[in-house]
Amino acid sequence: MLLDQSAEQESAEKAAGMTDVFAKCSTDGGYFGKMRIIGDDDFTRPTLPPNPNRTMEFKGREHIMWSINNYLGLANHPDVIATAHSALDQFGVSSPMGSRMMSGNSPYHQSFERELAEFTSKEAAFLFNYGYMGVQGTIQSLLGKDDVMVMDKLSHACIVDGAFLAQAMNGTQLRVFKHNNMDNLEQVLKRTNRDRKGGVLIMTEGVYGMTGDLAKLKEITALARQYDARLYIDDAHGWGTMGAMGRGTADHFGVQDEVDIYFGTFAKSFASIGGFSASTKEVIEWITYNARTQVFAKSLPMIYVETLRKTLELVRSGDDRRAQMWRISNSLKDGLRDLGFHIGPGESPICSVFVPLGEESMEAVGAKTAGFLRSQGVFVTAIAYPVIPLGLLMFRMIPTAMHRDEDVATTLEVFKGMRDNLGLRLSMTAEEEQKIRKVYGITP
Ligand SMILES: Cc1ncc(COP(=O)(O)O)c(C=O)c1O
Repeated sequence: MLLDQSAEQESAEKAAGMTDVFAKCSTDGGYFGKMRIIGDDDFTRPTLPPNPNRTMEFKGREHIMWSINNYLGLANHPDVIATAHSALDQFGVSSPMGSRMMSGNSPYHQSFERELAEFTSKEAAFLFNYGYMGVQGTIQSLLGKDDVMVMDKLSHACIVDGAFLAQAMNGTQLRVFKHNNMDNLEQVLKRTNRDRKGGVLIMTEGVYGMTGDLAKLKEITALARQYDARLYIDDAHGWGTMGAMGRGTADHFGVQDEVDIYFGTFAKSFASIGGFSASTKEVIEWITYNARTQVFAKSLPMIYVETLRKTLELVRSGDDRRAQMWRISNSLKDGLRDLGFHIGPGESPICSVFVPLGEESMEAVGAKTAGFLRSQGVFVTAIAYPVIPLGLLMFRMIPTAMHRDEDVATTLEVFKGMRDNLGLRLSMTAEEEQKIRKVYGITP
């Protein structure tokens, strides 16, 4: 999710006088431009060691790590690594060469796709090299000139960019509904149906990756049926963490059969790379032949396909890992709430901590709070505009099955120290609460 995608770019271009496409590069415009221009390496692009773990070294000091999406702790699982070794011996790193359409198809890709389809209770699935490419390509392939895409306001950037691609290439119309607001979604669908010429695709996430709240999928699937629309959900954060055996957020709500296309990434619970869309055989065949982001790209390397099949087994049988992730998540959220912090709705493992800005700028509050946490060995990412709306600061914490009770205890002590040493005002004004409610539809 990146709000006001073009506004920052436009201001950078204005500042640069638009005489040269490179002129903007020396300004503080563009995304996180103020950070880029000062050469920040704390809050944007921090350099971390390559092996994800519960603690990681940053700038010469061990930190408890709350910023990586290794939900089930599978990143360094010995069975995954052993499978990767044997795939490397068998296939090397080049295989297969070419796009699936030309020379990059293999029985391994096809059989993994069948496993994914079976696990997600769909007829077929199609692999993409990145989740981002998967969502974008699926949207672009399906939406034509007379079609309308209806998306949640807080949709991830890959959904927004998929919509832009469909709009630019095919003339698809875009409509946005307020985050998780069912009255507003119904209004948009009603309005859309009044002068409807083509199809309608509703697009939501399963778990909203920033706030951790869940899409109201029972209501959304019912509205999709009522208004004759199709539903595509991007369940990047729910796939592996939610539902029976990690089948995802729609399974959690008992509506997987009502979801027309299901999407999962391998970059989070699966601790690898790639993603897939799953649907009926006919729809997947269409996507396979028409999703430009994969038709024109080399296929997912064999070494990933083979290790991902092993990871799928571990995710399926990973109830103990999910239980540990939830235990850590719940004790972290409860402890932070007890300290007076404002936590998102907590429906998923993600723990989002909203910090009121008061009179200070988000840069100032972000630097002093995240700086304090880092100085005490707690690595947390501070999220600000343009990833979340202007005027808010949020810490987004990812509890995982790797974390231990002592990590939670230490982290809570450090948050307490931050609250007391920085004199943070934690109580929110009615206006601040209203702002969060307005954007997120939740009360922190
Ligand atoms: C909701 C959502 N969709 C898609 C993606 C992109 O996935 P990938 O990293 O596999 O490209 C992300 C990753 O941040 C995400 O959070």
